[in-house]
Parts: sequence; C-alpha cells; structure tokens
Amino acid sequence: MARAAIVPAAGLGSRMGADKALLPLAGKTAIERVVATCRAAGCRDVLVVRRNGAAALPSGLAATVVGVPPGGAMADSLRAAQTNLASDVTAVLVFPVDHALVEADTALALLACLGPETEVALPLYRDRPGHPIALTRAQFAGIGAPNAVLREVVRAAGSRVRAVPTANPWVHADLDHPEDLRAAQCALAGAPWSTVAQMFRHRSHRAYRPEPIPAEQLERLVDAARHASTSSFIQAYSVVAVTDAAQRAACARLCADQPHIHSAPVFAAVCADLHKLAAACGQHGTSLQAQSFELFLQATVDAALLGQNLQLAAEAEGLGACMIGAARNHPIELAALLGLPPHAYVVFGMTLGRPADDPVPRGRMPLAGVLHWERYDTARTAEVLALADAGMRAWSRRTNAERGGYQGRPVSEQKGWSERMATLWGARSDYAQSRRTLVEELRRLGFGLE
Ligand SMILES: Cc1cc2nc3c(=O)[nH]c(=O)nc-3n(C[C@H](O)[C@H](O)[C@H](O)COP(=O)(O)O)c2cc1C
Repeated sequence: MARAAIVPAAGLGSRMGADKALLPLAGKTAIERVVATCRAAGCRDVLVVRRNGAAALPSGLAATVVGVPPGGAMADSLRAAQTNLASDVTAVLVFPVDHALVEADTALALLACLGPETEVALPLYRDRPGHPIALTRAQFAGIGAPNAVLREVVRAAGSRVRAVPTANPWVHADLDHPEDLRAAQCALAGAPWSTVAQMFRHRSHRAYRPEPIPAEQLERLVDAARHASTSSFIQAYSVVAVTDAAQRAACARLCADQPHIHSAPVFAAVCADLHKLAAACGQHGTSLQAQSFELFLQATVDAALLGQNLQLAAEAEGLGACMIGAARNHPIELAALLGLPPHAYVVFGMTLGRPADDPVPRGRMPLAGVLHWERYDTARTAEVLALADAGMRAWSRRTNAERGGYQGRPVSEQKGWSERMATLWGARSDYAQSRRTLVEELRRLGFGLE
C-alpha cells in the first residue's frame, strides 16, 4: 500500500517571472514545502517533474527528479512520472507546486478516502474543487492513454470521484503572478488569506453569476465595512443596496449603462451622507454647516473608506466587486431614484456578486513611485513612468492573448500607462468636461463646497 506523490514543476514560470519551484515561502522554497507536505501525508516516494536544463533544486530534497523536455503540458509531466512509479505504489497524489500552501491535513484526508468506492479524491473549498488530487493507481493509469489529460481522467471516474471539503483556500490558488506570491507570503505570516494577502489578490470583477447574495451576508459585509475609521466619528456615510432588477437597470442607465450593473445581483450605492449630522444638529437646536468644503471632504473620505472596506470584505468571502464611479454622471437623478435625503450623494456605486470572470490582474506601478522615505523623491519619476508603461503593455498583451481582449474588445498593446492617463486627464480630454456640472449638482444636493 505504498503512496507516491507526483509534483509537476516543469513550467517556465514566465508569468511569475521566476521558477515556481524555487519561490521563497517563509524560509523554504515552494518545492521544499510541497515535498515536506507530501511526506507528512504519508507519501513514501515523491517524484518532482522538472524540465531538462532547469535550475537545480535545493540540495537534500527528499525527492526523485524526473526530467522532461521543455515545453510540454502538465499531462506530459504526469506521463513521464507514471513510467517512474515503483511497482508497489497503489495511490498517487498529484500535487502541483503551485499549491505549495496546501497543508498535509488536506492531502492526508484525500489519500485516506481512497478505496474500492472512491478512486479519485479532490479537495472542495467553497463548493469548488481544487488541487492536489489523489487517485488510485488504477485510475491514474488513464493518464497513460495518448492525449489524455488529468481533467478527463477525473471525469471518467464518474461516481468513484469524491469531493473532500477543506478549510484551506489555497487548493484554488495558483502561484501564477507576483501578487500571488506576495499573498502567499502574507498568508504564511498570518492566517490563510490574511487581510494583506487578500489585498494583493484584488481584481475588479465585471461579470457575475446570477445567484443572489443572501441578505444576511450583505448585512454582515456592510456591518464590517462601516467599522472603517471615520473623521471625528461623524460616520457620514450610508449604503443603499439595490437588488431589484428593475431598480438596478434604472441605476445602470444613470451610470453609463455598464453591463455589470445589470448582471450583478447587488448594486450598492456608497453615499457620503450628512443627513444624520444635520438631524443631530437639529435635535440640539442648531443647524449643520453644510456649506463647509471640509465637511464635504470628510463625508466623501468616510464613504470611500467604507466602500474600500466593503470591497475587501466581499473579496474575503469569495465575492467579486467593481466600484462604479459613473454613479457621479447624473448625481441628482441617482439621488432621486434612490430616495436620498438632502446632504447625501452617491460617491461611487459597487457591483457585488459571485464572479463569473477571471480578469488578468492589473498589477500596479512600481512601489518606488508611491512609497517615499522621509521626503518625496521626484528623481525616480521618469523611471517609474517607464516601468508603469511596460506593465500596462504587458497586461494588454496578456489580456488580448489569454482573454481575447478587455470587455469584449482588443486592448491596444502599444499604449502605455502614461499615454492613457494623458488621454484621460490631459488638456485636450473631454472626460473632465463630462463632469463639469458636478460642483453645481453637489450644491443642489446640499453640499456647500465653500
Ligand atoms: C472610485 C472608483 C470608481 C470606479 N469606477 C468604475 C466604473 O465606473 N466602471 C468600471 O468598470 N470600473 C470602475 N472602477 C474600477 C477601476 O477601473 C479599477 O479599479 C482599476 O482599473 C484597477 O483595476 P483592478 O481594480 O482590477 O485592479 C472604479 C474604481 C474606483 C476606485
């Protein structure tokens, strides 16, 4: 009853820009973590599949390296490993190096349920299967057929496949992008999906599955979100959650008719709201200084902090979100549609739901353009812009190649970040013009801005 683990680690790691097996994870490389996990899960043999010519693995690794020609697929790696399995192996754990943060308890649980009735076991996190996958040797033999892929081998096992619930979200997470690595490193420094890890995993989602968000979940998320810091404890925000399809469509029409507002089960209008302050002043025989620009700013910042917290909380619970600044296209009409009282406006909306898209992460400009020590350093600006341009072009290339474009359209692979910003906010842009009435509209909504 010998168990073997096969660890595919033959990829180039081109998206990551580094050999995944050698990524540093809390004092160990990714491959050392995976091999240790496989051993802890009772695997006597660990076969690591590497492309010929790849960098050497750390010395003393308790594993056998199986070489494959460069450029093959995962199934080719598995076939190469298959021919190297010892004859007494009865169970195989396929453990891609991407899943280096999966713990031994998950692997053990998968291997433990293999038997006459269960020939394939895969981990289930939040109703979605992930990796690693345990198979009886007989089932794994299916990978030997010409052109076989693991997914089909699993599918063919039909009723002999068992999904094993796990609390470990890393069964879903690939180490594909530098943000994934940073998220993994943060998680190892704290709990899985620590808040900081979650931040690195952020992407705006613009397509959603139709199922509604339960009211109690939305309440929990907004409740958590409103624990953001708030200027002088004024709590100058409110959220209008729009779930009714007709009301959402009406909101969408006022927000450039963005399709994700129609498809998301929730459109949350995140409002700067001085109404309660005004009422508090009224109760105490005075009136609100609603003309104050400072107060407008405080309410707007308060709302933005709540909004960001809401997005982060939603992402932490597996939802996707996208902020909708187009909510300021027609602020008076949107306020009327949502029945906002005086002294309130929608700073931005937010679509929320279970994501149905998988956008290429945008990354961000180099940190050197954002974090300065002691004094702002303008000497770095040109280099930062050049790197931001390169990052934007790389994102465009990937988005075109892997997603067929952005929201159904090809993205220019020539334009860098700086050119895009110059188009958006340069003197010849009419984008700012489209919001030129905003100040007057905010005044009419009860913000003095003086
Ligand atoms: C205040 C605010 C308003 C935004 N408005 C919109 C919007 O109206 N429509 C949209 O699709 N995305 C909108 N976004 C999302 C940004 O386009 C997105 O955050 C940015 O391109 C970076 O991509 P990422 O969030 O996937 O990293 C908005 C973001 C913010 C912060």
